[in-house]
Amino acid sequence: MTNTYPMSGTMTRRNGFAKLLCMLAAATLTSTLVAQAPLPTAHLSIDPSAIVAPVSATLYGMMTEEINHSYDGGLYAEMIQNRTFRGSWEGVEHWGLVRNGDSAATMSIDRNDGPSKALSTSLLLQVTSASSGNDAGVSNPGYWGLAMKPNTSYRGSFYARTDDADGTLTVRIVNDRSGGVIVSTQVPLHAGPWSEYEYSLKAGPIRPSVENHIELTLDHPGTLRLQLVSLMPPTFNNRLNGNRPDLMERMAGMHGHFLRLPGGNYLEGDRLEDWYNWKETIGPLVDRPGHQAPWTYWSTDGLGLLEFLEWCEDLKIEPVLAVYAGYALNGQHVAAGKDLEPFVQSAVDEVEYLTGNTSTKWGARRAQDGHPAPFPLHYIEIGNEDFFDRSGSYGARFTQFAKALRKQYPQYKLIATDPIKADAATAIPDMIDDHYYKPPNEMMDFVHHYDNAPRTGSKIFVGEWATRSGTPTPNFGDALGDAAWMTAMERNSDLILISSYAPLLVNVSPGAMQWPTDLIGFNAETTYVSPSYYAQSLFAAHLGDGTAKSSITGTGDRFFYSATVGAADHVLHLKLVNATSRDQPLAIDLAGVKGEHTAMIESLHAATYQATNSISEPDAIHPTQSKVRVMGGNWQHTVPALSIEVVDLRLQ
Ligand code: AHR
Repeated sequence: MTNTYPMSGTMTRRNGFAKLLCMLAAATLTSTLVAQAPLPTAHLSIDPSAIVAPVSATLYGMMTEEINHSYDGGLYAEMIQNRTFRGSWEGVEHWGLVRNGDSAATMSIDRNDGPSKALSTSLLLQVTSASSGNDAGVSNPGYWGLAMKPNTSYRGSFYARTDDADGTLTVRIVNDRSGGVIVSTQVPLHAGPWSEYEYSLKAGPIRPSVENHIELTLDHPGTLRLQLVSLMPPTFNNRLNGNRPDLMERMAGMHGHFLRLPGGNYLEGDRLEDWYNWKETIGPLVDRPGHQAPWTYWSTDGLGLLEFLEWCEDLKIEPVLAVYAGYALNGQHVAAGKDLEPFVQSAVDEVEYLTGNTSTKWGARRAQDGHPAPFPLHYIEIGNEDFFDRSGSYGARFTQFAKALRKQYPQYKLIATDPIKADAATAIPDMIDDHYYKPPNEMMDFVHHYDNAPRTGSKIFVGEWATRSGTPTPNFGDALGDAAWMTAMERNSDLILISSYAPLLVNVSPGAMQWPTDLIGFNAETTYVSPSYYAQSLFAAHLGDGTAKSSITGTGDRFFYSATVGAADHVLHLKLVNATSRDQPLAIDLAGVKGEHTAMIESLHAATYQATNSISEPDAIHPTQSKVRVMGGNWQHTVPALSIEVVDLRLQ
């Protein structure tokens, strides 16, 4: 088997998509299945009793943002697309007019009438002719379909205003192909000011389907304004405004320890006015205006700051809170000094919202929003990728934030997104956030980057990393690159305290993706995980807390390993990555290990670098388990070509 990766070039930020597509087009990845002789035996020596460096208990975490419909149309369980009619200003995106029989109606946007200051517009439905069986109204296709499951209850709500005499609104789910009604209900309307209405739909023993849409219709002439039209399926932990259980379970399976939130570019926005203003993402949904997110579409902020924190709580992980630091993706920045003060205050308030007790202003607000208990916090990140700010303003901006945050909250570690220069001498960051997006060969060539890095300054957060060549999710070659990189992070985990792959989620429906290599794929109905997901989840589940003294001779430059030990359970965790197309025999010398032991091996293997999982073939690559006997301290073990192995060997 021969495989080559002719691609090179580091991708960052939003040039990633175009650049990756060019690279994919230019790439001539080849794989020829020819059995090849094994490589010569290499020698790996490990002394599990000699720990040379600590491994951070929180090395692995997660990073997501509103990209690829990760939240709206993804994790956030809302089923209605453009529920606040803000998808665009030109028309009523994703909404259609329903006219059954000889009914007649129009729909438009009323820009001057809505239920709240935040949602001050509405969809105006004017039905001029309708009767029973000839109703008229509006429809919505959901986010690439509405997934309907048998014997399942759905909670719905909307805001409406009508001046007509009392009547009823019909809400129904209709199959796109057959036109058959899957489930429906009637909602009595009353004339008068804006009111919130609730409804529920209970699907019977139907066949699961996704090609459905929702209709809201009147069977009488009338005028109706609608806003915040919602339909929620069951959610993880039954949260009222919660998340899709299937995606939450996928994330739980990663064994991560934190969530870096709220982004990425999503924290910053394209223009200064598009910054992630967290105060507009909390409280009742009707008071959340939403905002233009940088990845081309509108964010409803239904998944707002509190929902981010509850998501952490549900997964029993901690937030790594990124606060907006006054830089926009178009290159503009807010000058340090007076202009920056409101943003610094916003960050101080935000930390209080997370951690303050209920006697503080923002702690009380959190309680009012439904969560009296404070959330745990250790790290605050100031900005995102401020190395893009060519004006050199970050040092002064970071310093201003750091001084205010350290004064109020000395207990938290501060993360900078670029090494701070001269004017920031008084505000040394506790940690620097480094980002790496690389094709497989480059990632594998990069594994020694931190081996000789200074251990005296700031610690490292690898806040975004990914090996990228597959799309929409990584292929097996990417998983090998990721596994190689993870061995490097574990070996250097005295310096690298936390890390998070990015981006995590992609809706694989046509047109939903902006970033072409993402860890977990999904559509309205189902999810799947990539080989890279499995590699990460295996590494994270077998971490250990100290790196054992070790050395290797006789391998080429495409074999990687990490040897860590758990002090409490006396387990040696050995990660072995063979990224070549030939088997790699190993003579493993385990110093001080005597008698018979059982090694538990979890393996990931594929026949080619390009092999992958997909929404239609979700399980092509998955871990397999095996056990082998290890006699004494000499273990002859062959790591198959194109394989990632995670071995646990109990030492006592
Ligand atoms: O992960 C995708 C993007 O890559 C992030 O938003 C940004 O921080 C980085 O450039």
